[in-house]
Amino acid sequence: MDLKGRNFLTLKDFTPEEIGYLIDLAAKLKKDKKNGITGNSLKGKNIALLFEKPSTRTRCAFTIGCIDEGGHPEYLGKDDIQLGHKESVEDTARVLGRMFDGIEFRGFSHKNVEKLAKYSGVPVWNGLTDEYHPTQILADFLTLTEQFGKLKGLNFVFVGDGRNNMANSLMIGCAKMGVNFTCLSPESLRPDEKLITQCKEYAETSGAKLAFTENVEEAVKDADCIYTDVWVSMGEEEKSAERMELLRPYQVNRTMVEMTGKDTTVVMHCLPAVKGNEITEDVFEEHAEVIFDEAENRMHTIKAVMVATLGE
Ligand code: CP
Ligand code: NVA
Repeated sequence: MDLKGRNFLTLKDFTPEEIGYLIDLAAKLKKDKKNGITGNSLKGKNIALLFEKPSTRTRCAFTIGCIDEGGHPEYLGKDDIQLGHKESVEDTARVLGRMFDGIEFRGFSHKNVEKLAKYSGVPVWNGLTDEYHPTQILADFLTLTEQFGKLKGLNFVFVGDGRNNMANSLMIGCAKMGVNFTCLSPESLRPDEKLITQCKEYAETSGAKLAFTENVEEAVKDADCIYTDVWVSMGEEEKSAERMELLRPYQVNRTMVEMTGKDTTVVMHCLPAVKGNEITEDVFEEHAEVIFDEAENRMHTIKAVMVATLGE
């Protein structure tokens, strides 16, 4: 499969076959790395890592993934460059595109990552925007595949702030890959209607069922995976009190996990976690092995994205 030169901005731009290919490639790169084998497909490539928002996993995954394949990563934090302050995003994009072979961007506005892609002329990878977090979904799907040996037909429940980057990207990914997706959240925190409509179209092809509910019992019954994320995303700190109030009934705790009626249910979290809010410490620790597999898989999947779109 040839993905050379492609951007990775949202999973909307990728077919189920392409998403499956990236997951398979990540599994292979993971196995190789465990056997002490790294590659050199990014040899001679310079990669810019732009971060307007902080990051542990995404930054480290791009850095290690790039170095493992022989490339050179350059971290550019929000105070290091002019992006959007003293210089337009379009101009910064054109400068970076003359010097770098690939650009990762984590920031607020999704429009900015689109502008970087449009004006830089090199592959641009979305490391999280307010609207989408597509590299996280590849790691989540690799983890689910490792746990269940398949993706299609699994019952996946996202619990929490349903209108954030994680819920949006998980819904797109599940709809494309035939994973039944339930969003368990207050009605006021459901994904955007336009995106739901688009995902329903993907689901018609894949066979995924999409559901949106406030009812905990109904949502988690038969769940193979319960997934949650912080109640207050980066940049929305002023909404903290309101979110706590709205989301308290949706904490992932032992009672909720027992309601699945299955003893094989996994609990996942993109991290960082605020234990005591969206998830209790006991449930987190009980599922820590899977949660940290998921964190490790960020590296293998991000490496796969770089290798597939830029590697020789
Ligand atoms: N899950 C995730 O994106 O983590 P970071 O914010 O630490 O990169
Ligand atoms: N929704 C979270 C995801 C963190 C990886 C945020 O945007 O802060």
